Amino acid sequence: MKAVLAYSGGLDTSVCIKLLQEKYSCKVVTVTVDVGISKDELKEAGDKAKKLGAKHYTIDAREEFARDYIFRAIKANASYEGYPLSTALARPLIASKVVDVARKEKADALAHGCTGKGNDQFRFEAVYRSKAPEMKIIAPIRELNLTRKESIAYARKKNVPIPVDLNKPFSIDENLWGRNIEGGILENPSTPTPEEVYEWTKIKAHEPEIVEVEFKSGVPVAINGKKLNPVELIVKMNELAGKHGVGRIDIIEDRILGIKARENYECPAAAALLAAHKQLEQLVLTRSELKFKESVDAAWSELVYKGLWTEPLREDLDAFIDKTQERVTGRVKLKLHSKSCSIITRESPYSLYSREAASFDEKADQRSMRGLKRNET
Ligand code: ARG
Repeated sequence: MKAVLAYSGGLDTSVCIKLLQEKYSCKVVTVTVDVGISKDELKEAGDKAKKLGAKHYTIDAREEFARDYIFRAIKANASYEGYPLSTALARPLIASKVVDVARKEKADALAHGCTGKGNDQFRFEAVYRSKAPEMKIIAPIRELNLTRKESIAYARKKNVPIPVDLNKPFSIDENLWGRNIEGGILENPSTPTPEEVYEWTKIKAHEPEIVEVEFKSGVPVAINGKKLNPVELIVKMNELAGKHGVGRIDIIEDRILGIKARENYECPAAAALLAAHKQLEQLVLTRSELKFKESVDAAWSELVYKGLWTEPLREDLDAFIDKTQERVTGRVKLKLHSKSCSIITRESPYSLYSREAASFDEKADQRSMRGLKRNET
């Protein structure tokens, strides 16, 4: 049997290569999808997979991830319980690339290294099942009911190089839209997250900084007047907001299975761009649109959190969202300083703001407000 495995180079997926070979008698093909991880890590993953006897593919999907996934998330103000869906957003794209390779390799099975407790198993499998219903799904860590400690012990026994030591057993997932750190002492919600866990949001800048973001039809196109492609723009925003400590999130999150989990995220670009986008919408959409869209955004976010990217409703909601974004064009200035990101100005050719109507200084005939009232819905 030939199995294609979504491979990150981390502990669980490295252990999976060996398990697939030895316990499932599979030939293993690994796929690492670059959705914004460092070049070193990518290379390391490829080298490790080959050393463990797999045929390896590296696929650069950064552009597609930014354009077709992250930009949709911005238009939908995507957030689930305060989490901007970084990992959730990347899984369907990774899974879909794995299926492409499996077809090319004429494989019989699709594999992933998720446990049976988290969300990612559902996200991989929803796409595996909808894109390749004829293929078998193998989830070795879940099926063999391995704990993290057991995975580490197995890795040692089989000479699988392991990136974690038992004192810092964090599970880390990174992509362009954010970094997630979980496991170990972080699992105790009454323990504060130690500073050393963070990488993207260490405060390095001490003076406030003003950054202008330009949006066109709901998506960011320029920073400080400079046009950037989607990947460059997100990388730049992570750097700008990250050095002011913006985008640290420490929450209790309700997982798909109903388990409550303590989650730590670093999402500087997401925090800044979502705040800017929301304020621009406030300027150009009507009260009725804003109110209705809030429920659409929440439905979109919940679907994507649950891994239902391929559910047709997601595209239906996107059609509505895209229509509203036609006027979400303009400029927003953000002030970044000491973990905060505040919106300080906004402007748009589609602005619905009327200074005359709002101002305390204008001597407008207050009786004319009756007319304005009638225009509301
Ligand atoms: N709780 C987050 C989510 O469901 C993060 C999952 C991160 N996965 C990981 N393997 N560290 O999207």
